[in-house]
Amino acid sequence: MEQRIGLLDSGLGGLTVLRRMLEHHPEIPFVYLGDTARVPYGHRSPNEIRRIAAEVVGWLRRQQVDAVLMACNTTNALAFDIAEAEAGSGLPVFGLIDCVASQLSCTRVGVLATPATASSGAYGRALRLVDPSCQVIEIGCPAFVPLIEAGDFSDPRLRAAAIAYLEPLLAERVEAIVLGCTHYPLLEDLLRELLPPEVLLVDPAQAAVAQLGQRLGKAPLHQARSCGLHPREVPVERGRFCVTGDAEAFALAAAPWLGWQPQVERVCLRSSVGAF
Ligand code: DGL
Repeated sequence: MEQRIGLLDSGLGGLTVLRRMLEHHPEIPFVYLGDTARVPYGHRSPNEIRRIAAEVVGWLRRQQVDAVLMACNTTNALAFDIAEAEAGSGLPVFGLIDCVASQLSCTRVGVLATPATASSGAYGRALRLVDPSCQVIEIGCPAFVPLIEAGDFSDPRLRAAAIAYLEPLLAERVEAIVLGCTHYPLLEDLLRELLPPEVLLVDPAQAAVAQLGQRLGKAPLHQARSCGLHPREVPVERGRFCVTGDAEAFALAAAPWLGWQPQVERVCLRSSVGAF
């Protein structure tokens, strides 16, 4: 029987990870949880993020998934230990940060991330563990997630914010920029336009999906690597989309990124974190 993967994020961002997963492993059943009632996570305190991560992983465990893919860097950076503890033995948890750190071989690396991820220093630690000489500049990008969730990609504030966030990285002549928030691959076209061609843009989801596939003993579909390929529509019985906020708004916003409009359920995680 196919193993079911639980993916978690605060909103739309985790779809970039789901899309990569479906490109390479289109047959994998999944439960996607977008905690849209509490997006953005990246503006919250470490304690809040840890409590939220415990709650979300607990909910996924109760949906009887066989593995958890943290499709969210913020919970990965601040609460990976909590996620593993909540999952318990027998339910593996896959993160993004360690996976990409073990595969990157650049010595000057920029990271664009949420304020919480950037100030946690998680990317710097992971990259320097692999290569102690690696110079890492982590930039918190508070404007990005709220503007992405609002869905207007032509909003001039996105471009202005991108220019400001990239400036210190370009000044330091980084070789690679890690998209350290799963919402940011949705800005790939804009970022690519603003960067010199030699700067590598790295989406950690690629490394995480490869590791997940290996652990599940699945060979990737190599021909799916071409950019912009949408996975095929997933039947509801194989892919469940759940949100804590407005289901219809999420379905509409998700459609362009998935290539089809999913059916979305609103779920209650029995929050003890309270309304924000
Ligand atoms: N997409 C998530 C991440 O990778 C969360 C962003 C947010 O809610 O601030 O960090």
